[in-house]
Amino acid sequence: MVKIAVIGGSGVYDPDMLENVRQAKVETPYGEVELQIGSYAGRETAFLARHGTKHSIAPHRINYRANIYALKKLGVRKIISTTAVGSLNKAMQLGDFVLPNQFLDFTTGRECTFFDGGERGVVHTDVTDPYCPELRSQIAEIGSRLNIHVINGGTYVCTNGPRYETPAEIRMYAMLGGDLVGMTNVPEVVLAQEAEMCYATISMVTNMAAGISEHKLTHQEVMDAMAANSQNFRSLIMTLLAELDPDEDNCECAHVLSGVGGFKL
Ligand code: HPA
Repeated sequence: MVKIAVIGGSGVYDPDMLENVRQAKVETPYGEVELQIGSYAGRETAFLARHGTKHSIAPHRINYRANIYALKKLGVRKIISTTAVGSLNKAMQLGDFVLPNQFLDFTTGRECTFFDGGERGVVHTDVTDPYCPELRSQIAEIGSRLNIHVINGGTYVCTNGPRYETPAEIRMYAMLGGDLVGMTNVPEVVLAQEAEMCYATISMVTNMAAGISEHKLTHQEVMDAMAANSQNFRSLIMTLLAELDPDEDNCECAHVLSGVGGFKL
């Protein structure tokens, strides 16, 4: 059983931390998912490049439902995702790692639930804690032990992309309480919750958001910032993979749907 998965975002396409990596294809009702499975610290771990291994899938075109379903089908219980984000909050600076605890959803037209009627019916999932508090505190603790600046908590604004934002949009998001802006956490986090898996995102600040930054944004700037800080990213994830107990169940994530019979594959 593969019980832990890493979903790599922009700049994280390659599971080079894993050993004996093999390609796998997983069939789902939403389409086929290609991912890699390898071992680390004696445990099988899945790695899924969210944008594809060549960054060819735009944020609004990612098949989020298939991805999360495929991980569930493999037996995954805990998902660590990575994202590149712009910062709206001067306390969250270039190179900082932030673990969002809330989101604001500005996406449109994405398939955002497993429960849209049909066989599964309609289920209204509680998202008071969309990101697993246990997983977040474990990552934050590892950060402080490794002397890597990790901020535990922040509101992730999810835009539809693939364009960046206007300064006016960024001013609005800041007024609404947003700290970070990115394009992929929603519906990924919501689907992981519906599928009763622990999910946490390590967001790396790659730029100050449009209008806060002194210059216009480029994708290259985002990639360069990811590359400059990738060693810290690796250290955080590798330590987490070595220490995480996938069977530990001190949170509510695996039982969110117990009132309606749980999530069924
Ligand atoms: N906006 C949206 N997505 C992003 C950004 C940004 O400024 N930086 C990295 N991903």
